[in-house]
Amino acid sequence: MDVLKYLGDRARLVEREIDRWVPTFEPEVLAKATRHLIDAGGKRLRPCLVITACEAVGGRTEDALETAAAIELLHNFTLIHDDIMDRDEFRRNVKTVHELWGEPMAIIAGDALFAKVFEAAAENVRRLNLDGNRITELFDTISKASFEICRGQAMDMMFERMENVSEGEYMEMVAKKTGALTEASTKVGALLGGGTPEQVKALGTYGLLMGTAFQIQDDVLGVTGDRKKFGKPIGSDIREGKRTLVVIRALSSASKKDKADILRALGKRNASEQEIEAAIHALSRTGAIDYVSEKARKLVVEAKKQLDSLPESNARDMLSALADFVIEREF
Ligand code: IPE
Ligand code: IPE
Ligand code: MG
Ligand code: MG
Repeated sequence: MDVLKYLGDRARLVEREIDRWVPTFEPEVLAKATRHLIDAGGKRLRPCLVITACEAVGGRTEDALETAAAIELLHNFTLIHDDIMDRDEFRRNVKTVHELWGEPMAIIAGDALFAKVFEAAAENVRRLNLDGNRITELFDTISKASFEICRGQAMDMMFERMENVSEGEYMEMVAKKTGALTEASTKVGALLGGGTPEQVKALGTYGLLMGTAFQIQDDVLGVTGDRKKFGKPIGSDIREGKRTLVVIRALSSASKKDKADILRALGKRNASEQEIEAAIHALSRTGAIDYVSEKARKLVVEAKKQLDSLPESNARDMLSALADFVIEREF
């Protein structure tokens, strides 16, 4: 099964839909800042999850299109604000919104995308003439996920200043900042596709687990990845002092020298390239990368188990392949 082709085909559908919700508007500068990151591309994984979950419970692709677009808009909103928080200059191989337009305009560009989420989802439930309970659950799911992301992001920032962060605390943080949105993606897809409460629950759990694995892999790529393929700077998590699982694990098992190499660069914004490189080598030497990759792999196995209760279909197979993709990817 060709996951990349599948993602690409779904991405085109979603992009056409996004154009309906974020067209050019006045003031032009806000429209440009709002479109910038969307136009830079991205994997469109979350809207693909919405559509595929919808299909996996017997719905049609077109039943979930507006909400798939809405979830991608929500994702892009969180990325614009995340790049301000993380002081990152590049994403999707282009300059970040705040780098180009300044922080105040980037904040409002994110807010504009967040507003559009609810407009697009409202159109979807209107078009399908969805029943009241499903409508309530759909908006409840999107609202609650948005709040969980805020909590996860706050934890992520608090951890930068903490001496010791446990694996458990990290897992809770990533389940919120990243897992909550992949969980909401599959849940709303299943709701729109007419899934039973059990199917909505199973697909939600699948989304949460695969999203958590996705973030662990993202943290690995943040130190071992290829900058061009990944589209984001390598080592910036180290400069920011992020307590990723790789760092947490490495610090708990590193030799004295490796620990010193890691701590020299961790949280040092003006660390030299050599200092970052030394930290990355030390992280690898501890075996932490193998350890966290194995942890992500186990999460993917658990995620795929959730699919057992669904009827056989191409969509179910694709969800299984997408779960593998999140830990095999290099971008
Ligand atoms: C980036 O998500 C933010 C994380 C949760 C790590 P993606 O890696 O899905 O970003 P795009 O949309 O493909 O750029
Ligand atoms: C991803 O945050 C989660 C959200 C944007 C909510 P990160 O800070 O870990 O991801 P990247 O590396 O900037 O994409
Ligand atoms: Mg970031
Ligand atoms: Mg962040």
